[in-house]
Amino acid sequence: MQEFVIRQMEHKDIDDILQIEELSYGAHHWSRDSFLIELNNKISSYKCILNSENKCVGYMGIWKIIDEAHVTNLSIHPDWRNKKLAQRLLLASLDECYREKIKYITLEVRVSNQKAINLYEKFGFKSLGLRKKYYQDNNEDALIMWSENIFDKKYKELYDRIKRDL
Ligand SMILES: CC(C)(COP(=O)(O)OP(=O)(O)OC[C@H]1O[C@@H](n2cnc3c(N)ncnc32)[C@H](O)[C@@H]1OP(=O)(O)O)[C@@H](O)C(=O)NCCC(=O)NCCS
Repeated sequence: MQEFVIRQMEHKDIDDILQIEELSYGAHHWSRDSFLIELNNKISSYKCILNSENKCVGYMGIWKIIDEAHVTNLSIHPDWRNKKLAQRLLLASLDECYREKIKYITLEVRVSNQKAINLYEKFGFKSLGLRKKYYQDNNEDALIMWSENIFDKKYKELYDRIKRDL
């Protein structure tokens, strides 16, 4: 099985990341400046997953605000999807939350993005409602999702099960 490494995002990853952004989000992707700002943002934590050639093939970002983490971005290069890499990144971010006593994880996802919704539901995220017309490019609604308390026994069992199955 191919080896992957997860580490904190670095400036040198941004070229790979911008390619994934464009392939994932088309014209409405984040700019180089957005990532540069995020790399200097004290509340941000961005992780990259690297393949055996040391190329960043996916990334995930969170903002950490007191006892809550907000997922800002999660994308996998189309050639590397369906290999459980998004799940690995989510587990790595959960590990960070456990280490830093962050209890809740929240995010917004396009209501049409069923793949991502399936992924978050697999991780026990529940729907909290909609942010109407949240996405400016097409006025699409965002589904607000959250994890409940990840320190609860039931959540920890889910986390352990996903980790074991990877
Ligand atoms: C959503 C995305 C991050 C998933 O990445 P991935 O590495 O392919 O996902 P994984 O292989 O880890 O799969 C995790 C889960 O996602 C869901 N999933 C993945 N591909 C799916 C598909 N084609 N159809 C339905 N559900 C799917 C499943 O629940 C899957 O779990 P399973 O394998 O046990 O069924 C990826 O498709 C992507 O980068 N999309 C574009 C960017 C994006 O939409 N990001 C989310 C923004 S909120």
